[in-house]
Amino acid sequence: MMTTQLRKVKTIIEPTPVVEGAGVRLKRSLGGEQLSYLDPFLLFDHFGSPNAEDYEAGFPMHPHRGIETVTYMLAGEVEHRDTLGNSGSIGAGDVQWMTAGGGILHEEMPQVRPEGNGGFQLWVNLPARLKMSQPRYQDIPSQKIPEVTTEDGSKIRVIAGNVEGTEGGITGIAANPTYLDVRIPPGRSFTQPVPQGHAAFAYVFEGSATFVEDENGSQQHIAQTTLVVLEDGDLVKIVAGEEAARLLLISAKPLGEPIARYGPFVMNTRDEIEQALRDLKQGTFIWQEEVRS
Ligand code: CO
Repeated sequence: MMTTQLRKVKTIIEPTPVVEGAGVRLKRSLGGEQLSYLDPFLLFDHFGSPNAEDYEAGFPMHPHRGIETVTYMLAGEVEHRDTLGNSGSIGAGDVQWMTAGGGILHEEMPQVRPEGNGGFQLWVNLPARLKMSQPRYQDIPSQKIPEVTTEDGSKIRVIAGNVEGTEGGITGIAANPTYLDVRIPPGRSFTQPVPQGHAAFAYVFEGSATFVEDENGSQQHIAQTTLVVLEDGDLVKIVAGEEAARLLLISAKPLGEPIARYGPFVMNTRDEIEQALRDLKQGTFIWQEEVRS
């Protein structure tokens, strides 16, 4: 007999308003004071505003080491460039995945648009063996992200991972996360297997959603905008309220390694953080410099 265990709600996090970069207002629900680390996820930010003054200052040139960042745009446009020589812009529905590896500097500048600016940035930890690896970078345009429609009418953009045999648009993230953008029609339900032992969270950003905890009626109703950390189990079941619900469902196997973090650097030891700061001061931070000289 096959048994499934529904994943219960473990922690409910109301995002904290923070100001980052040169003065961008955003909402942080992972990586802040409420939950500093959900292994392998280091940070989850929701940015979005119709008002230019909330985002136009952007994120001027800044360093990263030891992590991967995944930016998913909902609205507007962000121009970017980095020390690998990449530059371009990402817009609504596009995803940018960056492996900082041993060191990268980049700039992310939201453009002022009538529709404003909105999206999400997730930081995924790199395993120790890849922390000093060669930086990599990829833009995935919206049309390369497959959409699956379930029998119940839910529409799932498969950003990473696998849904009913459909492989996500991004496949190279070391922690191999599943990253789904799910739209559930009013009153309908959505189920998704998430393997035992994987860390999982949902971020409800439109409508409201009920997380079904068992088949005897235990459930939790979650209104936007809220992050929900899920307990262990093997299946997630969510029912939309009277309006359609839209949420991200993100999961991955924990790395189980020690972390030392300081701003944009996430390493395994304090010494490695000190080294990153020394490298930055001495101009030896960027991984590629050695190769170029
Ligand atoms: Co950055």
